[in-house]
Amino acid sequence: MTKTLELAKGYKISRVINGCWQLSAGHSLNAAPDKKDVMRAFHMLVEAGFTTFDCADIYTGVEEFLGEFVKELKQGGGISPEDIQIHTKYVPDINLLSEVDYQFTERIIDRSLKRLNREALDLVQFHWWDYDVPGCLETAGHLRRLQEQGKIRHIGVTNFDTKHFAEIVDAGIPIVSFQTQYSVFDRRPEKSLLQYCQSKGIPLLCYGTLSGGLLAEKWLGQPAAAPETRSQVKYMQVLEDTLGWEGYQELLLLLDKHAKRHAVSIAQVAARYILNQSGVGGVIIGVRNSNHVKSNTQIFDFDLDGSEIEEIRQFLSNYRILEGEPFELERTIGSKYRNIMKMNLSEE
Ligand SMILES: NC(=O)c1ccc[n+]([C@@H]2O[C@H](COP(=O)([O-])OP(=O)(O)OC[C@H]3O[C@@H](n4cnc5c(N)ncnc54)[C@H](OP(=O)(O)O)[C@@H]3O)[C@@H](O)[C@H]2O)c1
Repeated sequence: MTKTLELAKGYKISRVINGCWQLSAGHSLNAAPDKKDVMRAFHMLVEAGFTTFDCADIYTGVEEFLGEFVKELKQGGGISPEDIQIHTKYVPDINLLSEVDYQFTERIIDRSLKRLNREALDLVQFHWWDYDVPGCLETAGHLRRLQEQGKIRHIGVTNFDTKHFAEIVDAGIPIVSFQTQYSVFDRRPEKSLLQYCQSKGIPLLCYGTLSGGLLAEKWLGQPAAAPETRSQVKYMQVLEDTLGWEGYQELLLLLDKHAKRHAVSIAQVAARYILNQSGVGGVIIGVRNSNHVKSNTQIFDFDLDGSEIEEIRQFLSNYRILEGEPFELERTIGSKYRNIMKMNLSEE
């Protein structure tokens, strides 16, 4: 398996993408991340060839932080800022959806360009919070116009269901990637999204692969605990409605068995399992410090064989898959999944 993927003609990314939600204000529920250590982690990652980053217009303070990183690379004389790829998102606030027009979209794209210190945005992943508010397709078309003007290199999407995504594809918007939650905890993409995207040649870029760090040795044999980050809040809900704590502990034991066989870690097995699913282009792994750089840069140094993958799949098939399409529960009014979402962060 190669470490990189040609997402579009002439545009190569690393298949393990450095996720940056972890650096946004309020993501850590206890102590905020040490920004110096994170900057050190970024330099270590790009030097090891892991040059692709994922952020969003709604991750407070993160585009600016990556802009600082770009500046450091410019001054450093080592790896050039042109050799890294920064994927951002365009997530207009739910309260403002009815006001979104071309000028609105251009303003946010210009803001991302300025914050990131970039001439063009490598990939803009589009999200629309409410299908009932008209304007989703038109807005995707506005991103296309901004692409034609050279402000955006590539367009992707995040958190659509298959039906609404197909409308965007059918409208002729040249989408190169689909970012979705996909992990051993949350297999909703397997219902139809994965197959649809494969049929269109659009790879999935997956988050939640390590479930906010819950897929790690430190949780083996542990009782249920309070979440430490917003990621864990999210994935503990999924856990509650799928494996339960007992099933989760059994899963950890199974992943640990395979990890030990390869002399790697549970996190590496969990990431590799998702990377091995056909239709998956990459996994996005959150960076909150430099602790896991070594481990995450070794994900391609081993492989799971067919029987190991089948054993994990068989185990998971004993448990329910979360209800609905990807992000459907998160959109359902009154659901606990929606209640933890912050839908008005872009203007913050
Ligand atoms: N489109 C969306 O709606 C959406 C939603 C969520 C996330 N994302 C993207 O996906 C990225 C990942 O976020 P996530 O919430 O899914 O988190 P995640 O990647 O599942 O978990 C990240 C956490 O896992 C732990 N970890 C990382 N590498 C490890 C390793 N090798 N061994 C053991 N533990 C390890 C770290 O915990 P410690 O920090 O505690 O050490 C880290 O903070 C985000 O940064 C963002 O870019 C997108």
